[in-house]
Amino acid sequence: MPTIRQLPPNVVNKIAAGEVIERPASVVKELVENSLDAGAGRIDVTVEQGGIELIRVVDDGWGVAAEQLELALASHATSKILDADDLFRVGTLGFRGEALASIAAVSRLVFRSRPAEADLAAELEVVGGRAEPLRPAGGPHGTAVEVRNLFFNTPVRQKFLRTTQTEMGHLTEAVSRLALAHPHVHFTLSHGGRLIHDLPPGDAGQRIAALFGAELAEGLIPIDSVDGDLHLSGAVANPSHSRPNNRMQYLFLNGRFIRDRSLQHALGEAYRGLLLTGRFPVCFLHLRMPPAEVDVNVHPTKLEVRFQDGGRIYSQLLGTLRTKFLSTDLIARAQVPIATGGGVDGDEELRAATASPTQDLWEWAKRQLGPARSDDGPGGAFASPSPFGERADALQLHRVDLPPLVGR
Ligand SMILES: Nc1ncnc2c1ncn2[C@@H]1O[C@H](COP(=O)(O)OP(=O)(O)OP(=O)(O)O)[C@@H](O)[C@H]1O
Ligand SMILES: [Mg+2]
Repeated sequence: MPTIRQLPPNVVNKIAAGEVIERPASVVKELVENSLDAGAGRIDVTVEQGGIELIRVVDDGWGVAAEQLELALASHATSKILDADDLFRVGTLGFRGEALASIAAVSRLVFRSRPAEADLAAELEVVGGRAEPLRPAGGPHGTAVEVRNLFFNTPVRQKFLRTTQTEMGHLTEAVSRLALAHPHVHFTLSHGGRLIHDLPPGDAGQRIAALFGAELAEGLIPIDSVDGDLHLSGAVANPSHSRPNNRMQYLFLNGRFIRDRSLQHALGEAYRGLLLTGRFPVCFLHLRMPPAEVDVNVHPTKLEVRFQDGGRIYSQLLGTLRTKFLSTDLIARAQVPIATGGGVDGDEELRAATASPTQDLWEWAKRQLGPARSDDGPGGAFASPSPFGERADALQLHRVDLPPLVGR
C-alpha cells in the first residue's frame, strides 16, 4: 500500500503556480494587479524576450514594510482578506495570497519595496522558491518586482512557451485589459528597450483611443444605465468596427476583466441583424455591483465569476443596448426631417443623407422594425413588448446621429 505524505511547501507552490502562472502574461497580470491594489498612480512594465527573460513591474503604490516582505512572498499570505466572510466583500483584485509565492516558485524573483514612511527600500530575492536573506536597497517609494528566467526549474512548462512574438502578444493584451479597466492610472510597456505603450492618465475614451486608435474611439456609442445597485457603463462600437472573433469584447466587473458567455450572448443578441454571421461586436463595458452579489472565487485566475442573479445582468445589458440603439436621445435628435423634404421614396436618397458611421446602425434599426422577439435569452425579461415598432416613423424618415464617446 502506498504511503501518504504531506507535500513540501515548494512542491505545493509549484502546483499552485501551474494553475495561475501559465505564461509571462500571467505574471504581468498578477504583478500589475498587486500594483493597482496598492493604489499606484503609475505602473511601468518592462520586459525582455516576450517576458521569458525578464519582467519588471515598477509602481508608486504604498509598498510593503521590510518586516513584511517575507510574508508577502509566502503562500496564502495576504493583506486583502481576513476571513472567509471577506470572500464575499472582496474589493481588491487579489485576495488569494498566492500569486507572489507561485511566481517565486518558478522563477528568479526580486521584490524591492519602500513604503512612503521608510528611509530605505528592502529587497528580497527568491530563486525557485528558496529565499535569500533580506537586504537593504536604494530606490524610490513604491515597489519594483523583477522576474527572470520564468519556468527555469519547470522544464515541461517551459516547453509550452511560444515564440517571443506570441508571448508578447499575450502580454500586451494583458496590459491592455488592465489599462482599459483603470484609465486613471499611467501605464507604460517597454519591450527590448522599445516603448510599446505610454498611456497617460485619462478617461475611458482617451484610453481606448490610445490603445486602439481615434477612429474606433470616435465611433463609440456611450452606454450608461443603472438598475438598483447594478451599474452598467462604457461604450459599444459601431457595427462597422465588428471583428471576426470576440476578442475585442472587453467586459469588466468591478475593475476586473472577465469572460462571461452569458453576457457575450446578450451582446450578440443586441447586435442581431446588424452584423453578418461570423462577425462580433466590439465593446468596452464596465459592470459595477456590490461584491456580495458575485463570487469571484471560482477560477484560479479570476477570469470567470459567478453572478448571484445572472439573468438580471443579462436583461440589463440586452435591454440597455437595444434601447440605446433606438434611444430617446437618438429619437430626439431625429425630430428634424432631413433636407430631402421627406420625399423618401427610395432608400438611396436617405442612405446618401445618412452617410456617416451611423449608417449601419440605421440599416439595422430599419430591419428590426416590428414586434420584439421572445427569445431574449436567460433572464428573458426585456420588458418592452414592441421596442422598435413605435419608433418606426422616426426611423424611416429621419437621420440618426450618435454622440461620440471621446471628450464626454
Ligand atoms: N506592488 C505591491 N505593493 C504593495 N503591496 C504588495 C505589492 N505586491 C504584493 N503586495 C503585498 O503582498 C501580498 C501578497 O501578494 P500576492 O499577489 O501573493 O497575494 P494577493 O494579491 O493578496 O492575492 P492573489 O494571490 O489573489 O493575488 C499582498 O496581499 C500585498 O499585501
Ligand atoms: Mg496579488
